[in-house]
Amino acid sequence: MPAAIAYSTAQKEIPPGMIDLAIGQPSPRLLPYGAMAQAAAHSGARPERMLLAYGAEQGDRRFRTALADFLGPIYGLPVDPAHLLVTNGASQAIDMVCTLFSKAGETIFVEEPTYFLARKIFADHRLNPVALPMDADGLIVEALEEQLRRVRPAFLYTIPTYHNPTSVCLSAARREKLAELSRRHHLLVVADEVYHPLSYTRPPPSPMAAACLSANIISLGSFSKILAPGLRLGWLQAAPALIERIVDCGLLDSGGGLNPFSSGVVLSALELGLVEKNLALLRQTYGRRLQAMCAALRERLPPSARFSEPAGGFFVWLELAEAVDTLALHAKALSQNVEFMPGVRFSSRQGLGNCMRLSFAFCDTPDLLKGIERLASVVGRP
Ligand SMILES: Cc1ncc(COP(=O)(O)O)c(C=O)c1O
Repeated sequence: MPAAIAYSTAQKEIPPGMIDLAIGQPSPRLLPYGAMAQAAAHSGARPERMLLAYGAEQGDRRFRTALADFLGPIYGLPVDPAHLLVTNGASQAIDMVCTLFSKAGETIFVEEPTYFLARKIFADHRLNPVALPMDADGLIVEALEEQLRRVRPAFLYTIPTYHNPTSVCLSAARREKLAELSRRHHLLVVADEVYHPLSYTRPPPSPMAAACLSANIISLGSFSKILAPGLRLGWLQAAPALIERIVDCGLLDSGGGLNPFSSGVVLSALELGLVEKNLALLRQTYGRRLQAMCAALRERLPPSARFSEPAGGFFVWLELAEAVDTLALHAKALSQNVEFMPGVRFSSRQGLGNCMRLSFAFCDTPDLLKGIERLASVVGRP
């Protein structure tokens, strides 16, 4: 008989007693039900009553304007609402980019490691991912340049800020070089910047969105990480020519704008200052959890378990001794009621077998500490 379910989401069901360090979504306690009820009431009381109509293909202009005003201070640069297009979240945006800018069988470039579910979307589109190496400063742009001499990909998919799973940030110098390569090689860069607002210590370098007008870049953002994934609401930012191409697609022509209902409610949340408030709470909560998790990892795990303390995002990426197989450890961990994400899931070449991703987004601090204690009993102690 399967274990009873203590918590169930679209991506998984968590049995009671399990401490889940694998799941990359906010704790149920951090989902802003009260704020969203307030925003929905505010939105429903608007005299123009447009919430339930088909929406504009690019997304409601007032929502895009409020979103641009919200993003400006976070990005440290002005954002033009004309360069924003409303999406159903970053996953849908990735899928739409694949539909519009690639054909089955074509090569794309991804990072090694990369977001495991983006890999699945690329597989849905029968794309052929070529993995590019990363280091502590993010994607190694020299390796990209080298590959570009040999292969012309449909696009590069990159997670420049608080990468999933490694949490590293692409350095400012590499961001410039990446934009320059995009210009020189007409390379479409899909920059998944969903974690950019979640900084806990120092601000990250400027987003790739900053170079949207001067290079061939589509930057993706999402309310999933800063408000609630159930809203299915995000945005992409790009130059007008790319926006026009996307606005003209059959999906938007037939269905109208993506998620006018959620964007109407979130417009109210933005106007009432509720998104900023929620983001401040998340930064404080996740920042504290991250510190507690890293301290426990340093104390409990053997020195052969290496990690860098991230400055933002959701994850700690742990590298164990070369010979360790985290897939085998995963089964042992489950038997101790703790779960993590094995590194191989993020690899496009069946590698990273000695790595694991730990999330501090879902569990609160006492559970994180208990989880690391259990993990230490599986991995071994100092
Ligand atoms: C890098 C990255 N992109 C996209 C997503 C999915 O975002 P959304 O909920 O906006 O589709 C995630 C969620 O884990 C993610 O980590």
